[in-house]
Amino acid sequence: MSSATPGNPIARLFGSTIGLKVVMAVTGVIWVGFVLGHMVGNLQIFLPMPEDGVHAINKYAAMLKSTGGVLWAVRLGLLAAFATHVWAAITLSGRNKAARPVGYDRYDNIQSKPSSNYMLISGLVILGFLLFHIAHFTMGVVQPDAYSRHLPNGMHDVYTMFVLGFRNPVFAVLYMVSNVLVGLHLHHAVSSMFQTLGLRTPGYRGLIDKISPAVAAVVIVGNVLMPLAVLVGVIGRSVS
Ligand code: HEM
Repeated sequence: MSSATPGNPIARLFGSTIGLKVVMAVTGVIWVGFVLGHMVGNLQIFLPMPEDGVHAINKYAAMLKSTGGVLWAVRLGLLAAFATHVWAAITLSGRNKAARPVGYDRYDNIQSKPSSNYMLISGLVILGFLLFHIAHFTMGVVQPDAYSRHLPNGMHDVYTMFVLGFRNPVFAVLYMVSNVLVGLHLHHAVSSMFQTLGLRTPGYRGLIDKISPAVAAVVIVGNVLMPLAVLVGVIGRSVS
């Protein structure tokens, strides 16, 4: 069901159902890009420790922090995209419920309703993970001792923080489970994003239907391997 708002085009975009779906697709694509880029940056944890004892991930984190204003602009952009995405999801879900207050007797032949519930719930769990994750690695309130480690040259020792974080089986499993959920959320999200943007045309359907499972698999494998490798002692054995 669509409720269009007459007047200015921005109000119309945010007021109509298809407009909200486009808002979700655009804000979603920003986060897919961030999640993939963030993962590639973090995978540097697998690089060997260099002679000077300053691990690549520490140099990378210091480089990001040295960008100052740019880092804050990116953070604010991500926050705005996330908040808009969640708001649009909740608004759309409310409209779906209002359109069919009684609910379906059977789901067998109807794909969209259960999957939109699943997306809403998995999305809210991911929000919970993200709040925990920022409190853990960005603010250092979960493991303050691990967060406060610095190298003799004064650099924040992200490598040690990372290893001490995932050496704890509770945190390692929490990250692994959450990142499987992130991957599954992206699986559905990427294919509906192409659908919403009108790109899932018959000519490209075959290709597009391979992109969403590929993105999900890459995110799950990459992000699960990191905590797992620390937990089983493949990386970080030198850290005490
Ligand atoms: C195993 C998976 C992950 C690992 C190992 C990881 C690692 C990290 C680390 C070490 C930091 C702190 C960087 C620093 O302060 O120098 C960080 C920050 C962050 N991570 Fe992750 N992350 C993972 C998954 C994710 C996922 C799936 C998301 C999003 C859904 C995410 C979103 C963020 C955000 C928003 C920040 C804050 C960035 C900032 O401070 O500007 N991370 N992550």
